[in-house]
Amino acid sequence: MAKEERELYTFTKSKELFARATEVIPWGIYGHMSPTLQVPGAFPYYTATAKGCRYTDVDGNEFIDYMCAYGPMILGYNYAPVEEAAAAQQAAANCTNHPAPVMVELAEFLVDLIPVADWAFFAKNGGDVTTYSLLVARAHTGRKKVIMVNKHYHGVAPWCTSLGHGGITPEDHLNMLYVEWNDLEGFEALVKKHRGEIAAFIAQPYHHITYGKQELPAEGYWQGIEKICKEEGIVLILDDVRTGFRLHLGGSNEYFGFKPDLICFCKAIANGHPISACVGRKELMNAASKVLYTGSFWMSAAPMAAALATLKTLKETNGVEKIKRAGTMLMEGLEELGAQYGLEIETSGTPGLPFMHFKDDPDYFLQQTFCAEVTRRGSFFHPHHNWFISTAHEDKDIQETLNHVEAALKAIKNKM
Ligand SMILES: Cc1ncc(COP(=O)(O)O)c(C=O)c1O
Repeated sequence: MAKEERELYTFTKSKELFARATEVIPWGIYGHMSPTLQVPGAFPYYTATAKGCRYTDVDGNEFIDYMCAYGPMILGYNYAPVEEAAAAQQAAANCTNHPAPVMVELAEFLVDLIPVADWAFFAKNGGDVTTYSLLVARAHTGRKKVIMVNKHYHGVAPWCTSLGHGGITPEDHLNMLYVEWNDLEGFEALVKKHRGEIAAFIAQPYHHITYGKQELPAEGYWQGIEKICKEEGIVLILDDVRTGFRLHLGGSNEYFGFKPDLICFCKAIANGHPISACVGRKELMNAASKVLYTGSFWMSAAPMAAALATLKTLKETNGVEKIKRAGTMLMEGLEELGAQYGLEIETSGTPGLPFMHFKDDPDYFLQQTFCAEVTRRGSFFHPHHNWFISTAHEDKDIQETLNHVEAALKAIKNKM
């Protein structure tokens, strides 16, 4: 066996653990982390340790991470100031009869940081706040219907989960209407057809779909949507759960130049601690106060302290710029190496959430092999979900990854 091949990672312990899991946990590992969604056997399944932009799996393989826990990690795993803030709050009080003062401090911080925010509401997961935002919009407008974009992901509540998944019925979608991404005319026509019935329009800031090129908003798209929503009294909801704090600290709408009424955040808000937030304009605060919505752990104080420390760090260190620089280096490097090896790579999305595909690979077969080859060399590349960059990714890490990319391209070329 060639020297390089002997050094490629294997995933024996991951596979053993997964086999045990399938006996006692439905789907073994469910949802977006399920290995059944990747090339079986070619990626790690279980993490042992994580620090900075790297983690080690249960087989002892170390990876430079380009998924960042599917978004939550933004400052690096185990980032000391965030962990210290969370630990100090945990030691003082976390889950008690009352919230801690940090809840008020965090709400005040978000209201200062985010131009459209006059208030903030906290929960745990992204799906908690996307569903909450619909309730607020309905309470505010007294209307039932909601428009969403085909293929946009807003969590796993029945209203946004497609038919065919277990337990979902057509009645769950009775009040949902659908448009295509970037189709302003289609949106206008739908609004006309259902004039006076539509409570809200909810969408991601751009089209970050799986198995596809990431599509940014067309020129004037968001501004057109904002105008129609204002004229028709429709609450404009931005689902910034995935993108939040990687494009702009004031909400991704600031990056694209428009003003929503409600913004949903989660993922990166607390560098891996469990908390989500919905922020909104003051006109919606009364309606928000009428919505009954809470959970056993939603007032936990330690994640709030973690969120405050994360957002302060991002602000003080200009984290968004750092992420942009690292992501741009990766995207440019991928395209250059693809051209060099005659396997043309196109990148899409934004530097903080980049993605790639090969030009002549409509079914993503080459992409699956390529991402597996890079991963087995030490940089975790997901084959069909957009990637994430953190402030912990330094130039030297990106360069090391580009070395893995080059070795993977060479290996693929040799087998062609
Ligand atoms: C755009 C978007 N909205 C909502 C969600 C749901 O978030 P959660 O999985 O935390 O409920 C996700 C999760 O990936 C997401 O990407």
